[in-house]
Amino acid sequence: MNYKKFHEKSIETNAHKLQDLLLYNKSRKKIHHQGFRKDNMKVICTEKSQILATKLARALKTSVVEVKYSRFPDGEQYLITGELDDEMVIVGSVVDNDALVQLILLIDACENSDNQLILPYMGYARQDKRFHMGEPVSARAIAQVLSRGISEIITVNIHEKEVLKYFGMPARNISLAGDIGTYIKSLNLNNPLILAPDEGALSFAEHVASAGGWDVDHLEKTRLSGVEVKMTPKQLCATSRSVVIVDDIISTGGTIATASGMLYQQGAQDVFAACVHGVLTGGAYVHLIAAGIRDVICSDTIERGCSKISAAEKIAQTIKKTDSKNRKK
Ligand code: R5P
Repeated sequence: MNYKKFHEKSIETNAHKLQDLLLYNKSRKKIHHQGFRKDNMKVICTEKSQILATKLARALKTSVVEVKYSRFPDGEQYLITGELDDEMVIVGSVVDNDALVQLILLIDACENSDNQLILPYMGYARQDKRFHMGEPVSARAIAQVLSRGISEIITVNIHEKEVLKYFGMPARNISLAGDIGTYIKSLNLNNPLILAPDEGALSFAEHVASAGGWDVDHLEKTRLSGVEVKMTPKQLCATSRSVVIVDDIISTGGTIATASGMLYQQGAQDVFAACVHGVLTGGAYVHLIAAGIRDVICSDTIERGCSKISAAEKIAQTIKKTDSKNRKK
């Protein structure tokens, strides 16, 4: 089948499926909810943010538009959406290059709506500066590409808040540090020590710790020799304590695995790892468990088996606040 025929067939098949879906949806009675409900707002998402988007839609008391995703024979992505609304909340974490392209296509498909973009995890945000001559400012490049056709952006624990200025419209960042704290509370640990892997993550760790009024500290790396490093909490002692190492991202898990081994050597009772974005690349989850981490806790900004915390409620609250502010104007 050639490209054009595949395209036509794909559109035809998907259009039929969607037609059925639209008729079914129209035939359903409208449910009236109390509180926030916008009859002209719907949620739509990329494939890798389906669970979070569905939870968000529930919190907003609206529906998720179905999207059919497929590929052309050469691997290029294709999608077709169901019926859109005047206001669309587009949810898509940039977890890899395919997710990025899908998000770009989805935004374009929503061009006739007023679009709010929710970027639960923004990949490429760590290259937020030109560290060496000849490098791109990747965070800026991605922000600019994703700004087209969007009137407002919400990010979740973006790696560097400075990146927000690269979007071409109002962009706000929300933090799940408090939610991580609440989850840690539910573990009923005895007087846990909340530990940031470095000084840069200390304010995040302080926010987590404030949920239970727990001790907080950051790790300090001491170089013992050319090949040996020692990581210890800067001020507090980990002996006989439950330690929770918290960070915005766990990528390879290397930092936390090394720290965990050393904390056990120093007499820690048990070590947990918690983060917002569980990138967990290259077998990181297994690596962490093998290093003695009792449990890995992350949110659903990247949908994982260990996504124990959802960003949906916080995002919904932020959308509702924006909406009521706009209505007051
Ligand atoms: C870095 O700046 C981030 O905040 C994390 O600390 C980092 O991405 C963790 O990386 P890894 O899990 O590979 O040690």
